Amino acid sequence: MPTSRPTAQERLLGLLKEKPEEAGPALFDQHYLDLLGASEQAGPPTGLAQRLMRTSLVPTIYEHYWRPALGRVAKGLSGPSMAGEVAIATNLLGLEPGSSVLDVACGTGRFTRAFGAAVGPDGLSVGLDGSRTMLARALGSGDTNGPVTYLRADAVALPFRPSTMDAICCFAALHMFADPDAALDSFTSVLKPGGRVVLLTSARRAWQPMRLVDTLGGIASGQRMFERGEIGEKLRTRGFTEISVRYAGITQIVAGSRRVTIAG
Ligand SMILES: C[S@@+](CC[C@H](N)C(=O)[O-])C[C@H]1O[C@@H](n2cnc3c(N)ncnc32)[C@H](O)[C@@H]1O
Repeated sequence: MPTSRPTAQERLLGLLKEKPEEAGPALFDQHYLDLLGASEQAGPPTGLAQRLMRTSLVPTIYEHYWRPALGRVAKGLSGPSMAGEVAIATNLLGLEPGSSVLDVACGTGRFTRAFGAAVGPDGLSVGLDGSRTMLARALGSGDTNGPVTYLRADAVALPFRPSTMDAICCFAALHMFADPDAALDSFTSVLKPGGRVVLLTSARRAWQPMRLVDTLGGIASGQRMFERGEIGEKLRTRGFTEISVRYAGITQIVAGSRRVTIAG
């Protein structure tokens, strides 16, 4: 007798550290699993940029106007397009049919959907975000049948069991978290040995007066400005190998593989 394939939601539940008490369809009433319940905020608030992501307006214009426009300002004219970013992330993660991938701070799910297409029906693509309005938009812009599903949770303390994901993407968000180091620790734990991570985040310019402009912009928007090289070093100290970094404007895309430890 043919057995039916578990849904992406069922597979997601199986990867969680703690089973939500009412585990089952009731928790997916909003079509995403909500582990933050009534709380408006995922983790401690960090400022304006994070607050805007929870409004109703920004998510409606986010994917087609906000992100491409601000992304272009941040990356500069020679930086990748949005489609280019998706292709870079997919390639650097080495996604293949059957892979499991977590898109941390997925926003409206542009990357989550593309990853779903890359991993195919045997794979799993989970979009995680703290904003209800972003997740509502993500659900509205794609089919959640197949490998794609969404989760509302804090990116800084991922709710997954250790070594459960083949790949983690976190684009345009690490600089917005209250504790980026705790987030990187959490990503490291959730990745399987040999699993790949890719991050797009801020990169403060080295020369004045632009360095001062970057610092002030970061303070005003509540976003951390990382130094060039800083994220690669953070991955290295967490045991990542095959680290690559590319810069565009005030952004850096950093990727790496979680070291495979040989027992014995
Ligand atoms: C600028 S958007 C990035 C969306 C998408 N990754 C992209 O590249 O377009 C940042 C996202 O991070 C989410 N976010 C910020 N802090 C978070 C946290 N602590 N936990 C979960 N999501 C968070 C926001 O809700 C927002 O959707």
